[in-house]
Amino acid sequence: MWRFVHLTDLHLASQRDGVWNNRVLCSMMPELMPVLTVDLRTKGADFILATGDLCSRQDRAAVFETYAAMESLGLAYYPMGGNHDFVSEEARAWFLEAFAARLPEPRTYYSFTHKNLHFCVLDPWWRWADGAISPECEPVVAATMDDSLDRARWAIPPEQLSWLERDLAGHRGTPAIIATHYPALPIPDRLRVPGIQDSGTLDNGPLLLELLCDFPDVRAIFSGHMHMHYIARAGGVTQIVTGAMPEYPVEYRVVDVYDDRLELRTLGLSDGRFAARSLIPGKHWTAGEEQDRTAVITF
Ligand SMILES: [Fe+2]
Ligand SMILES: [Fe+2]
Repeated sequence: MWRFVHLTDLHLASQRDGVWNNRVLCSMMPELMPVLTVDLRTKGADFILATGDLCSRQDRAAVFETYAAMESLGLAYYPMGGNHDFVSEEARAWFLEAFAARLPEPRTYYSFTHKNLHFCVLDPWWRWADGAISPECEPVVAATMDDSLDRARWAIPPEQLSWLERDLAGHRGTPAIIATHYPALPIPDRLRVPGIQDSGTLDNGPLLLELLCDFPDVRAIFSGHMHMHYIARAGGVTQIVTGAMPEYPVEYRVVDVYDDRLELRTLGLSDGRFAARSLIPGKHWTAGEEQDRTAVITF
């Protein structure tokens, strides 16, 4: 057995606090990271899978600040971008520059194999109102992104889907995981409460799931973006969505990898005060139900 940690949406390098479902307290991250570092030290994880929205301020210095904060965790990690990281082509260039030492290849989408598990990391682009798929965020969407995602949509560009197909074809027989900031599967109805903030799924999530039908080795998709925990299933694929670090419940996933299965559990920080600061009374449901907090995924 070996182990990795999934954490997401750290929203580093920002002092801007706000409210999504609960309070999003970016300003508490400098205080939270040392606690997380100490907590992770005893977990025996080989690496962290960090599924985007790592940086919440859009300039080059912020990306380097984010890199330094991620390095402070003292563990290897695989970074990827989210809507807050990849607003433009320029932002992708900053990411490649800052995280060069952690990327298996100098690209915003990539794959790697760790022991008995293959990982494919995707970089979905922006879907504009006219249907185009672009690496650049539509200006009207970018202007309001901190407060609203109502008009924001994302899709995996066709070239990346072709790459994924080729990559998976070259790794048949090895269990595989997809990691992408935006989930392919939506928030399950059982968790939808009145007034819930829904960050949105991949526009072409159904196309991704259709492609994965030809690759039964792909067992799970790991995502963030929703700022809540949920686990959903489609065919043979399990969608794991993990909540944001600066928002209640301030938790991460620990994934134990065996020869024949993954076992996932959800852990909070040793200091519960960070979660308590974010919680808005009545909005505990971002922690999910029991079935959103543990899972066994067979190969
Ligand atoms: Fe986020
Ligand atoms: Fe996001």
